[in-house]
Amino acid sequence: MKNRKTITDSTVDPDVLAYTVGDDPVLDLSLAVWDCMGTAAHVTMLSEMKGLARPVVTTREAAAARRELGRIAALAEKGKFEIRIDDQDVHMAVERMLTERLGDLGKKIHTGRSRNDQVAVDVRLHMKDEILRAETETVTLAAELQAFGAKSGAVPLVGRTHLQPAMPSSVEMWATGHAEMILDQLENLEAAYRLADVNPLGSAAGYGVPLPLDRRRTTELLAFSRPIHNCFGASMARGECEAALLSALAQLMAVLSRLAEDMILFSMPEFAYFRLPREYCTGSSIMPQKFNPDVLELVRSKAAQVLGLQTAAISLLHAMPGGYNRDLQDCKWLYMKGLDLARRTLRILAKVVKGLKVDAEKCRAAFTPGVFATDVALMKVAAGTPWRDAYHEVRDQFAALYDGKRAEVAVMDPDEAVAAKTHEGTTGGIDHRIYLRREKAALKSISGRLGALHAARRALLGM
Ligand code: ARG
Repeated sequence: MKNRKTITDSTVDPDVLAYTVGDDPVLDLSLAVWDCMGTAAHVTMLSEMKGLARPVVTTREAAAARRELGRIAALAEKGKFEIRIDDQDVHMAVERMLTERLGDLGKKIHTGRSRNDQVAVDVRLHMKDEILRAETETVTLAAELQAFGAKSGAVPLVGRTHLQPAMPSSVEMWATGHAEMILDQLENLEAAYRLADVNPLGSAAGYGVPLPLDRRRTTELLAFSRPIHNCFGASMARGECEAALLSALAQLMAVLSRLAEDMILFSMPEFAYFRLPREYCTGSSIMPQKFNPDVLELVRSKAAQVLGLQTAAISLLHAMPGGYNRDLQDCKWLYMKGLDLARRTLRILAKVVKGLKVDAEKCRAAFTPGVFATDVALMKVAAGTPWRDAYHEVRDQFAALYDGKRAEVAVMDPDEAVAAKTHEGTTGGIDHRIYLRREKAALKSISGRLGALHAARRALLGM
């Protein structure tokens, strides 16, 4: 095989080219539209640059370049954009196409830029879009849980600690408790979003260039909150925002895996509090009776994988020398894979929760006397017994039962026990408006930012 010619290298050994290019020709397809957007902002800024004897590109040329970038982006949206191995990545594929169509103008668009700041911009634009979509899916899942909680009303559910029966709870409390944990994960996603929402463009290879680049201008055109001030810092930030996103996703997935695990347990025949719709269960090739919760088991597995991706990202960055290193290219599939796994999990869980059925009688039947023990002791307190004495009276009865002796223990009605707890956030004190308000506020802020990002993209690419 002959050595291959690329835009940057006159000759590269084909095996070395294949190894270094890796999966970029496929992965970078997700970045193509964002790459066109970044380039459109860069070329616009170049055409406005003051203090040069002669403009690098004229206003007319910038407009022509933007038009062509819009066409390339439209091809990419239709899945008709191709990255060849000789291109190495999306950046040089776009430059090649621009040069094929615009001649010398195509050769000018990379002026004052490096693929290092270019890819960092692409990744951040792509990430912002994806994080906002993941946040929407997070809110949707929380809303499904809240609605499921509202629908099941105060069906009593045995609350557990150490997995042992503990105190009266309700399906509503269980569902909205998970919803609240999931809504809290928006905070981590937002932290990742803020780290992604800063502009590295103009840092070039990580040290700036001797041209009067207007980094504020590209920041405004690309709808970033601010430029990353220090050019070296901008190059160092590559990988860091990917790792921060993966850490948010890993934590989100850990929360989702606990929801999945509760659903697996509570839908086991031995519990049977919940029932998964039959079409959400998978069978066995040998055991005809099986309706297995594979979907929820795979949620646990995906959670483990995302944690692995986070570990991979941090390990990759660990002790890497300052400035760009090619290792950073491998951060790309890590964060893309993490987003893919997390977003698919959010969507399938919303569907499972929507289909989940409650067996209220099985839930009530599970209330063994011990579940009321604390409430019974507190009734003694209401009658004047000091707490610790009341505790020991009840404790002695249950200790006797535990040892197989006879003892009289008081029991209660599960529904009454659930209704008797009324302070904020307990079984009789769940306020659904809190969830609805949080969900609404989150969706409003998400759609505002998605709108701004896509408006900026349309303005630059005319799409
Ligand atoms: N595909 C490369 C990456 O993701 C683009 C940057 C290449 N830069 C370089 N100096 N070789 O990192």
